[in-house]
Amino acid sequence: MLILKTIRSCQNWSKKQSSSIGFVPTMGALHLGHLSLVKKSKSLCAKTIVSIYINPSQFSPEEDLETYPKTLSADLAHLKQLNVDAVFLPTTTEMYPSNEREFNYTNNLFNRLEGKSRPHFFYGVTCVVSKLFTIINPTHAFFGEKDAQQSIIIKKMIYDLKINIHFISCPIIRNKEGLALSSRNTYLTSNQQVKANLLYKSLMIMHKAILKGEKKSLVLKNLFKKSINKDSDFKIDYISIACNDSLKELKVIKSNTLISAAVYFHTIRLIDNFTYQPST
Ligand code: PAJ
Repeated sequence: MLILKTIRSCQNWSKKQSSSIGFVPTMGALHLGHLSLVKKSKSLCAKTIVSIYINPSQFSPEEDLETYPKTLSADLAHLKQLNVDAVFLPTTTEMYPSNEREFNYTNNLFNRLEGKSRPHFFYGVTCVVSKLFTIINPTHAFFGEKDAQQSIIIKKMIYDLKINIHFISCPIIRNKEGLALSSRNTYLTSNQQVKANLLYKSLMIMHKAILKGEKKSLVLKNLFKKSINKDSDFKIDYISIACNDSLKELKVIKSNTLISAAVYFHTIRLIDNFTYQPST
């Protein structure tokens, strides 16, 4: 497994490839969710490259840039075991040499859902992902449905900027209690991690109600709120029932609806979602 630490070495590696290149961007502290993306890439592409980079431009000054979990040697061991071809470990000096943001891409999805609570976030994500796409020039890129809005925005960026990359969406990986795996879950004690599954449970209460025929967003959102508010350790940031493409809020559930939520729990903010298709 090659470890590439400079943009030049990464570009050289990419130029040498004659077949498909699968790219999995990450911020490290890898768990089975990340590794599922890597496995998907391995199954579809001749070569797989993973980037590990804690991107400063997607953190606001109040967020956890300095303390974001770092487990580089364990990450590299996992990736080696999966026979990943290359790992790109860029530096901020190279990624943001002028310390400025000169990337102007935006779209009308940036300020919805996550973007309301984290207005800086999608500017930072699209900025770094487009730089990584340019450096690596992959044929395929792999993103998790855990970050549903991120996926929708990157897919739209690929479309809007005519980037020649196949976008591959991968399902959410959860622990046995249902909690979606996340690098930030390590901020919680093991007891708190068990309790944190209330978010998933509350989403599943909505799912069951939808399957029983309830289609009104207001009623469904109230079910979610009632379930979460039973535990005072949780505070709802948002619960959304929106079109899975435009992210516009819906009064009534239709096919291809994204049901997503964010809650504050102890020191962290948990996000989770599911998509409703009439057959599910
Ligand atoms: P990070 O949080 O490290 O996640 C990297 C990728 O792993 C994302 O596509 C994310 O959706 C996916 N992922 C995380 N947890 C998952 C889970 N439980 N199941 C399935 N997939 C999961 O997302 C980022 O990093 C950054 O914003 C990045 C795209 C790398 C840009 O900096």
